[in-house]
Amino acid sequence: MQRILVNQREIAQTRIETVPPAACGPGEARLRLQSFALTANNVTYAASGFAIGYWKFFPTGVDGQGLVPVWGTAEVVESNADALAVGTRLYGFYPMAEELVITPQAGGQGGFVDVAEHRAELPAVYNRYTPVESDTQSDHMRALLQPLLATSYLLFDWLMDNDLFGARQIIVGSASSKTGLGLCKYLAEPQERDYSIVGLTSQRNRAFVEGLGACDRVLTYDAVDQLPREPSVYVDMSGNGQVKQAVHATLGDHLKHSSAVGISHWDQFQPGIALEGVKPQFFFAPAQIAKRREDWGPGVMEKKITAAWKRLAEDAAAWLEVKPQAGLAAAEAVYLDLARGTADPRHGHVITL
Ligand SMILES: NC(=O)c1ccc[n+]([C@@H]2O[C@H](COP(=O)([O-])OP(=O)(O)OC[C@H]3O[C@@H](n4cnc5c(N)ncnc54)[C@H](OP(=O)(O)O)[C@@H]3O)[C@@H](O)[C@H]2O)c1
Repeated sequence: MQRILVNQREIAQTRIETVPPAACGPGEARLRLQSFALTANNVTYAASGFAIGYWKFFPTGVDGQGLVPVWGTAEVVESNADALAVGTRLYGFYPMAEELVITPQAGGQGGFVDVAEHRAELPAVYNRYTPVESDTQSDHMRALLQPLLATSYLLFDWLMDNDLFGARQIIVGSASSKTGLGLCKYLAEPQERDYSIVGLTSQRNRAFVEGLGACDRVLTYDAVDQLPREPSVYVDMSGNGQVKQAVHATLGDHLKHSSAVGISHWDQFQPGIALEGVKPQFFFAPAQIAKRREDWGPGVMEKKITAAWKRLAEDAAAWLEVKPQAGLAAAEAVYLDLARGTADPRHGHVITL
């Protein structure tokens, strides 16, 4: 069984390793990965592996080396669990490896939960596995878009739910990322709106963000001082400390809320950096789902999220070129491109095994 080990302290150092397959004990099932997506989000899982706990999902037994989680689809190839039949295909959270052994338990709505002891304390959303039909194109779009656009839509919903914190300008950091562009697109959907959308991005991705047609204004990171001084919210997917500092300094009291969502610029992340004005708040997506469950009852938000990401998937050909590549060696190369920030935002990388 092959897997990609990532150095937990130097996350741009990787190696492919062959190990004997894990035993498939009583109550367990062996899942063989068929495909998974790779985006900056997976690099963030590595960069925040200790702080948020992503290294805990798939322990390696090798000191200092971790397995980075990915979203993808796998087929059950061996099962000692009554509830889960061989041949079932499951979408969910997997390691960058050829196989995963889980302890499945029926988890409602036809899905399964991995109840393995080491995952018990980890957020439930990552432990769920959903049966899916055999359809390669759908597998790729789901793995690429569902986890990211679900967050974009939750951010949009949370902003509306909070009356934009009184802002008239929403500034999206790392607007070329799928999570960032998704938020810009959801913000641009209402026919009438009384706020403007500003996308912040790097020089090399500026034309891409402009081409999305969702932002009223696109600024590069070195032009933050051109931000209009009006009540604003900063929703940051970049985590870039210098940029955050410049946004806070430029807007001062006009900045009504600063939301920390991602660290696509993981090597420029400076958590302790001094900032003017409001203190950034970590956006915790499950909290907004829980809030809406209280407001609307169970399952309603989940349906809205599914409708939202499928809506954007319909016109995705305009901004997303799905790039399937075969094998873990290709996965390693793509992961390293993403970690170095050299990947093209238009490309949707999918690894098939
Ligand atoms: N908190 C949550 O629940 C949650 C959920 C989903 C995603 N996120 C986070 O949102 C961020 C975006 O993820 P994604 O998968 O949507 O990204 P993606 O589509 O792969 O976006 C890639 C973009 O990120 C920037 N970037 C990536 N790596 C970089 C590097 N090494 N140096 C400089 N810029 C780099 C570039 O955008 P620019 O040039 O525009 O900066 C690039 O176009 C990640 O940090 C992810 O973890 C958080």
